[in-house]
This record gives sequence, C-alpha cells and structure tokens, in this order.
Amino acid sequence: MAIDLHGKVLVVTGGGTGIGAETALAAAEAGMKVCLCGRRMPPLEETVARIEQAGGQAIAVKLDVTDQESESHLLDTAEKELGPVWAVFANAGRGLNRYVNETSDAEMKALFEVNFFATHRLLAESARRMLAHGQGGHLLACASCLSRFAIPKHGGYAATKASQDMLCQAMRLELKPHGIHVSSVHPITTRTEFFEVAAEHSGNSDYKVIDDAPKLFIQSSRRVANAVIRCLRRPRPEVWTSRIVRMATAIRCVFPTLFDRKVKDTAR
Ligand SMILES: NC(=O)c1ccc[n+]([C@@H]2O[C@H](COP(=O)([O-])OP(=O)(O)OC[C@H]3O[C@@H](n4cnc5c(N)ncnc54)[C@H](OP(=O)(O)O)[C@@H]3O)[C@@H](O)[C@H]2O)c1
Repeated sequence: MAIDLHGKVLVVTGGGTGIGAETALAAAEAGMKVCLCGRRMPPLEETVARIEQAGGQAIAVKLDVTDQESESHLLDTAEKELGPVWAVFANAGRGLNRYVNETSDAEMKALFEVNFFATHRLLAESARRMLAHGQGGHLLACASCLSRFAIPKHGGYAATKASQDMLCQAMRLELKPHGIHVSSVHPITTRTEFFEVAAEHSGNSDYKVIDDAPKLFIQSSRRVANAVIRCLRRPRPEVWTSRIVRMATAIRCVFPTLFDRKVKDTAR
C-alpha cells in the first residue's frame, strides 16, 4: 500500500535550486511540509514562495552542510517549526571537472566534505532521531549514475557518489528492521546550475559537461523530483531515471573492457 505523504515533514538539503528545489515543490504538491536548506537565502526564499503560492507549507534554513553540527541545527529547526521529520533528502552537492592525477588532496577532501561527509552526518543523525521516535521514516541521498561508473575528468566526483551509494546500501540493511527506508537516487545529466558551479570550482568556466551530453541523456529536474516522490510513496532501494543508463551499469559490471572501449575521453 502506498504511504500517505499528506502532512508528513520532508527535509531537503540544497533545496533552493535544481533537483532539490523541484523535489521540494513536488513534495509540497503531494501535501508534505518541507524544510529546505542551502548557503544562499534568495533561492531558498524563492522556492518557499513558490510552495506557498501553490498552497503548501515550507521553511528555509540558511546553512552550510559542511559545518559540523549543521545537521542538528537543521533537524532541530524542522522539528520545532513543522513537526516530527518523516523523510530526509541529502541532496546538496557539487562536481569537479578534473583528471584524477591533476586533483590535489585539498580539492578531493573539499569534494568529499560536501558530497559524502555531510551526507553521512545528516543521515546518521536523522537515523538516530528516527530510531528514538520509533515511528519509522525514509532517508534518501542524491548520488548519481556516476556512482556506478566513472568517466574521464569526473573520477573524484564519481568516488564521492560511489561512497554515498555504499552508505545507503549499508544503512538500508541496518535500518530495515526498524521500519526506516533508505534509498539512493541516481540521476543522469540533469539541467541545473550544477554544471556552472562545477566549472567555477574547476577554474574552466568554458567547459560544461552538459554541452557534450547527448540530448537523449539530458533530463529535467522535475523528472528526478517525480521519481523521488514515487519512491517516498512506495519505498524502493534505488531511484533511477534512465532505464538505458541503468542497464549500461549492469553491462559494465560484467564486461568492464567493453564498457571502457565505449567511453571516450571527450573532456577538454
Ligand atoms: N545535475 C546533474 O546532472 C546531476 C546528475 C546526477 C546527480 N546530481 C546530484 O544532484 C544533487 C543536486 O544537484 P543539482 O543538479 O540540483 O545542482 P544545483 O542546482 O547546483 O544544486 C546543488 C544545491 O546544493 C546546495 N549546496 C551546495 N553546497 C552546499 C553546502 N556546502 N551547504 C549547503 N548547501 C549546499 C546549493 O545551494 P547553495 O549554493 O545556496 O548552498 C544548491 O542549491 C547533487 O548532489 C548532484 O551531485 C546532479
């Protein structure tokens, strides 16, 4: 039976833009109360305004997920303002377009801070609170299709996403007996600010991966958001938004040599 989302609270990191904002809107349309966070207030406020205009309820919290204790502050605020938290979507993240041998230790650590360690802190703290309440819940992390295969210039990013994926796999098994669902989300190329931000961090603002991606493999953030809402209603281990790419990950697992031959180094 589908879970009734009406009145349930969802926390979304990186909720001001892209996949996070669209998921917040879709969740509000499904009747959920939403708590968003990010470092910039204007995009968060814009998402809250769009939700309120549509008759929904949302709040925005300005924070950097890489700050220690930010996860407690976020969950405390959501609980105080909206009520017990049912679902948490660790979505905030960014990319880096850099060959692995050209990536410094500091760059790799900074990438892991936002994509992996912040996800771990938030999901682990959320799990502790859900276990204490004993009411179940749902934890999700926005990984990527690149959690299952890497492409040139995205090795560091893919490593952070593979780490999120493993975290979710283990947490799903650990928390299942307690009625807490855990899902990893694996979008393919999605039209968002992601590519501008990655280019900025990489110091090559003329290079945007999305410009090279075949049209067939470019999706809207609404498509990802709708898939996340379906997963909240009917929990499943993994959310994929492209069957072809999912199949390709299975082929890569069995035939890595063949897969490597097909992936070209198109990075400039
Ligand atoms: N776009 C794609 O093709 C694609 C594909 C697969 C997976 N993903 C994943 O999808 C997730 C969302 O990305 P997106 O595509 O929607 O890009 P986006 O529009 O750039 O969204 C990233 C969000 O994360 C927030 N954020 C980044 N660093 C943060 C920090 N330190 N503290 C708090 N918030 C932070 C940003 O807000 P502030 O800058 O205001 O903090 C922004 O709202 C990411 O995890 C990304 O890896 C994206």
